[in-house]
Amino acid sequence: MQSATRPSDRQIAVVISVIVGFIVAIITILTFFWIYELASGPERRAAAEAVEIDAPYSASTGVLLITQAERNVPDDTRDPWLSLEAWTEGVQAGQAYVEQFPEPQNAQVLTGMTTEQIWGYMQQHVSGALGVGCQYCHDVQADENGTYLFNEDTYAQKLSAREMMRLTNDLNAEFIVDLPNWRGNYVQCATCHNNQPIDMDSVGPTFRPSTPPIKVTVDPLDANGEPILEAAAKPEEIQEPLMLQDAILYYIYNYQVWDPFDPADEQSGRGSLALTYAEGRTQEQVTITQNVMNYMAWSLGENCLYCHNSRNFWSYELEAAGNLTNAESGYNRLKAQQMLLMTTWMTENWLSYGALPKTDIEFEGAGAFVDGQYYRKVDGDVYTVPGCYTCHNGRYIPKKALDQNDIPSGEDGNEVFPEVLRGNK
Ligand code: HEC
Ligand code: HEC
Ligand code: HEC
Ligand code: HEC
Repeated sequence: MQSATRPSDRQIAVVISVIVGFIVAIITILTFFWIYELASGPERRAAAEAVEIDAPYSASTGVLLITQAERNVPDDTRDPWLSLEAWTEGVQAGQAYVEQFPEPQNAQVLTGMTTEQIWGYMQQHVSGALGVGCQYCHDVQADENGTYLFNEDTYAQKLSAREMMRLTNDLNAEFIVDLPNWRGNYVQCATCHNNQPIDMDSVGPTFRPSTPPIKVTVDPLDANGEPILEAAAKPEEIQEPLMLQDAILYYIYNYQVWDPFDPADEQSGRGSLALTYAEGRTQEQVTITQNVMNYMAWSLGENCLYCHNSRNFWSYELEAAGNLTNAESGYNRLKAQQMLLMTTWMTENWLSYGALPKTDIEFEGAGAFVDGQYYRKVDGDVYTVPGCYTCHNGRYIPKKALDQNDIPSGEDGNEVFPEVLRGNK
């Protein structure tokens, strides 16, 4: 009986070998996952991020990026603006400033707001939108009397940001809320900045390798819609043949409408890219228009039928032209034309909106890719100027635009999208 209940040596050996086998199995599995993580972790994380990109935009994503970043070392006199410490220090200094000055001392654009409302707006919609803490634009240290200095215009970046507020309002006023069949989205800082202070991508990854390295002759249209064929009569930038890529982007930043759209006239609405009129256009001009269309389609993540009726490429369809079943998606070609006027208008007025020129970048000509980034010269200085892709990032409604129905209420004074940025003329 005894020997039946006491495990035999053989039974013990079996149990031990099972336990050992179990441990070995666990170690093997863990090792497998460790190697799997080493080998495929970056890819899987990228995939997870891609999913995140399709989630609705939240202003607090930018704040997370700041608080999770390593503390940076600025190469000028500013304090670091990345890391949890930098973020907390800035927000707390802002809080102290709010207590010292319940009314703003130097708000030139954000009028009609209390200091606390401005403080709330700054966190999510300015810092968060650009992915930088308060120190990027403000000196957050108190002076010898313990007074905080958020009112002072110490750094160029703050002056730049103030002009950008004017830009945001002007874009909304002149172009966005004026769109035919406007769907209710505003441009805000994040729409362009995408959680980055500088070097936003204005062309998108599909565009760069898409065009063959050929030179083309650009024949712009004159005020009557007739092509200008004589080099000397053209704008300087396009007197000589250009690389196709530069010719495409030329039109994004130099677009005109010479026959405004009139629903009563089928032939109306022609602009710089029109191919159909009197004598037709050169083969090179057809190539350029085709590639501008590609650029716009990729920027919006749509195909040609999103804006066109495939049986009638020159007409303006006011109903949904194509693959979108959404009843609201009419007027797309007309909207695209307004957007081309908007990118052109931005280029023409870029110097008045405070962007800081790139002093370390040089190239010949009006625009160029340098290390994969597209730059343009405006009045001799180098800038990145927004293109369709800057805002749209492959979506027909920019994800980081602000839907008027989703504007935070601001009752707690913490999250507001100021009235003065919504396109008030
Ligand atoms: C990208 C630049 C930028 C960043 C980052 C930024 N601000 Fe501002 N801030 C401004 C500008 C520009 C103004 C002035 C707006 C105006 O003139 O209407 C301003 C104004 C203010 C004011 C009102 C000052 C006054 O005139 O009395 C406060 C308070 C403030 N910011 C707090 C903050 C806090 C807190 C943070 C960080 C969470 C922050 N800001 C981040 C650009 C910035
Ligand atoms: C239409 C697109 C657009 C909008 C909207 C926009 N910006 Fe900008 N901003 C830019 C571009 C493009 C630059 C230049 C970036 C570069 O130099 O690479 C820039 C530059 C800046 C700079 C200078 C950064 C530096 O260090 O050189 C600041 C600060 C800034 N923007 C703040 C803001 C704020 C705050 C808002 C919202 C009130 C805003 N921007 C809205 C496109 C935009
Ligand atoms: C985001 C909207 C949009 C998308 C997408 C788009 N187009 Fe266009 N297309 C326009 C606009 C706006 C014009 C008018 C340009 C002008 O008159 O200056 C135009 C003009 C044209 C014309 C010249 C018509 C004429 O008046 O002579 C052709 C051809 C054309 N597109 C083809 C295409 C093709 C092919 C695609 C797909 C690769 C495409 N488009 C994608 C907006 C778009
Ligand atoms: C400064 C940011 C910005 C830039 C740059 C920009 N867009 Fe837009 N675009 C928007 C916003 C915001 C909306 C949504 C407006 C609304 O709610 O109706 C929009 C809407 C559109 C729509 C209508 C989409 C729909 O289904 O209602 C088209 C088409 C479009 N843009 C084309 C373009 C083209 C083409 C370019 C480049 C020439 C361009 N956009 C550049 C911000 C921008």
